[in-house]
Amino acid sequence: MPRVRKVQNKKEKAPAEKVRVLITGAKIQSRIKEMARQIRKDFAGEPLHLVSVLKGGVFFLTDLARNIPGQVSFDFIAVASYGQNTHSSGQVRLTRDLDSSIEGKTVIVVEDILDTGMTLQYLLRLFQQRKPKHLRVAVLLDKPGRRLAAVHADYIGFSIPNEFVVGYGLDYSERYRNLPYVGVLSLGGKERETV
Ligand code: IMP
Ligand code: MG
Repeated sequence: MPRVRKVQNKKEKAPAEKVRVLITGAKIQSRIKEMARQIRKDFAGEPLHLVSVLKGGVFFLTDLARNIPGQVSFDFIAVASYGQNTHSSGQVRLTRDLDSSIEGKTVIVVEDILDTGMTLQYLLRLFQQRKPKHLRVAVLLDKPGRRLAAVHADYIGFSIPNEFVVGYGLDYSERYRNLPYVGVLSLGGKERETV
């Protein structure tokens, strides 16, 4: 009887994704407290209207809002970018508008990260047309090395190198948003470069 050789069809394991901690949750929280204090100082006694960009900016907004004393309201907007390498295409469109008017309000746009700047450039143009009393920008993270649009953020949590980060609202294919820290994502040992 011929010997039958079993061919093992070993499935190749997908390389494991890893996240290397870049900014701990504790550091994020203490920096947000400082930012909140500064914002309140700059607009002492004024009602503030925080506008966050879904979904990444939500964690930052809620922590920031809880640390700003006095009158604070908030609203949400959502945008989508066309194509794959969306951030650099500059094609941003609105998928969900604000619930209420911002006319005459002191508006702080709250974003997770300022990367190429295309998203914020689009939003700031849109909001400026709606005649707010003041329009300011607060970002948790800034990647200055990636800027394509001349966007200025008034409040910056941390400047970070040009690496793809996840956590604290930031995602990779909708995952990792729930991490309480910000980390650099690597795919199978290789850190993912931003496109
Ligand atoms: P921008 O229009 O290029 O400034 O891109 C801003 C948006 O791109 C952010 O709100 C994020 O949703 C996304 N983004 C940019 N860099 C990263 C990153 O390192 N990790 C996850 N999302 C990012
Ligand atoms: Mg975002």
